[in-house]
Amino acid sequence: MNSSMLRLPRALPTLPFCLVLLISSLLLGVAAISRTSSSNPPRQENSPLGRSGYRPDFDEKYFHEAGNTLELSHYDGRYFRGEVPYEAHRDVLTQLIRSYLSVTASLGAETWLAHGTLLGWWWNGHIMPWDYDLDAQVSIATLDFMSQNFNGTFHEWKYVLDSEEDADNEAYGEGDVITKTYLLDVNPNYIEVDRGQGNNVIDARWIDVDTGMYVDITALVERDPNTMPGVWSCKNFHYYRTRDIWPLRDTTFEGVGAKIPFEFENILIAEYGHKSMVVTEWEGHRWYPDIKEWVKIGWNDTETEKVL
Ligand SMILES: *[C@@H]1O[C@H](CO)[C@@H](O)[C@H](O)[C@H]1NC(C)=O
Ligand SMILES: *[C@@H]1O[C@H](CO)[C@@H](O)[C@H](O)[C@H]1NC(C)=O
Repeated sequence: MNSSMLRLPRALPTLPFCLVLLISSLLLGVAAISRTSSSNPPRQENSPLGRSGYRPDFDEKYFHEAGNTLELSHYDGRYFRGEVPYEAHRDVLTQLIRSYLSVTASLGAETWLAHGTLLGWWWNGHIMPWDYDLDAQVSIATLDFMSQNFNGTFHEWKYVLDSEEDADNEAYGEGDVITKTYLLDVNPNYIEVDRGQGNNVIDARWIDVDTGMYVDITALVERDPNTMPGVWSCKNFHYYRTRDIWPLRDTTFEGVGAKIPFEFENILIAEYGHKSMVVTEWEGHRWYPDIKEWVKIGWNDTETEKVL
């Protein structure tokens, strides 16, 4: 397995942890998966990648977050209207990823879950409740397609409120149809091969224009097909072999169709370590195998007593 994944796992800072469950028993919680038919990566020969020549403006950051703190970095500055509280953020992110996965599928843009979002899928097919942003990857050919045909496009997404979500949406009731709008925004610097100062490692974003919360989209490129064929990487030095990614597997995430890399487990281990698959207390949440959910510690009375 490639070990050159340098990016620090942002979802998993060091915290005390306890080893309770074995990986094998956890695997039972993973949503059903199957192999997809698309067994080859899309061809990238015609990509404008690297054809831009010298670009003095490359290091000028394209995506601007609401601020530099960890909390504010989860929002696009243009659409930020205040921090989304913990109780509401999962619904916002759930619609964000559902809309992204559904719309990209309908546009024919192949994308798959990555980083902390892939880890959330591995545990129970859901976003980990302490995550405030989402990650997806595409091939450079798909990013070219998105850029040329859909950059700057707004996409309407309708969903019906179920009773569970009522509590977080006081103005709405069960059965109401909510219409959301999302923007696909492609970084003009995506065609750069290099990382530069790291200001533009995110190639595109799928942005909730009501809150500014987003899906980070990064493209994998076979950077040196002649001397290192079959080695793919993003601008932030995550490396994969063709067979780590393709053929993608079909699965579900947050209740909608999704794709994941073929060697998803090796990818997660390389990025986050084995502990990310066995530790059952993280970021103030505890894993309950009976309900297959991460629950915030202190959310039921007995736990609150323990915390106090
Ligand atoms: C995408 O569109 C925005 C404007 O909506 C523009 O600033 C940006 O340069 C475009 N990106 C690409 C890759 O052309
Ligand atoms: C807290 O809630 C979880 C999930 O509902 C449940 O499985 C667990 O037993 C509860 N813990 C206690 C100590 O009551």
